[in-house]
Amino acid sequence: MNRIKIRRAQISDAEVVAHLWHNYDLYEHHLDKRIEVVSEISYEKQFLEIMQNESSIVVLAECDSAVAGIIDYAVYSRGKLKIGTLGNLFVLDEFRGKGIGSELSEYVLNKIKRMECDFVNSGVRANNKEAQKFWEKRGFKIDFDSMANCSMRKELK
Ligand SMILES: CC(C)(COP(=O)(O)OP(=O)(O)OC[C@H]1O[C@@H](n2cnc3c(N)ncnc32)[C@H](O)[C@@H]1OP(=O)(O)O)[C@@H](O)C(=O)NCCC(=O)NCCS
Repeated sequence: MNRIKIRRAQISDAEVVAHLWHNYDLYEHHLDKRIEVVSEISYEKQFLEIMQNESSIVVLAECDSAVAGIIDYAVYSRGKLKIGTLGNLFVLDEFRGKGIGSELSEYVLNKIKRMECDFVNSGVRANNKEAQKFWEKRGFKIDFDSMANCSMRKELK
């Protein structure tokens, strides 16, 4: 049985976060060639900016002490609405099918619910049917669908 630990990313995780985001974009590039994949150093800079501005919270999953997956989330207000937004859920290939994606999503959805958000959005590439099924199973519905992207929403109130 694998031991899965979910925790908030720290500045010292910059290298591993960059590695996961780089692999996420490689995966996305495979789905849509217009997605640009930049060097791991650029993802590291992006992560350090996020940590400095606290614009979103990056969460990591460790499987038997190895960093295996990532997700990030943010909460913002629009008028009277409080909205949660999810980004970049990714589990390294060799760790898939062990429940890590489920634990990461459950962790961030609980955090967002506790912040009394009205709903939570997740952007998914239109041709990523696996990811759409993943979010549908967790209560999300397609909110709008365009040629390249679809936005999925889960009502929380
Ligand atoms: C989607 C993803 C995060 C799921 O992570 P995971 O750790 O394999 O997920 P889990 O083990 O918790 O399994 C969740 C579901 O994923 C599916 N799954 C299981 N093994 C899988 C595998 N090897 N490959 C793809 N999907 C798999 C199953 O449908 C499973 O459904 P279940 O809930 O009926 O068991 C992962 O496949 C991934 O990183 N995909 C590429 C990036 C991506 O598409 N991200 C989502 C963008 S919004």
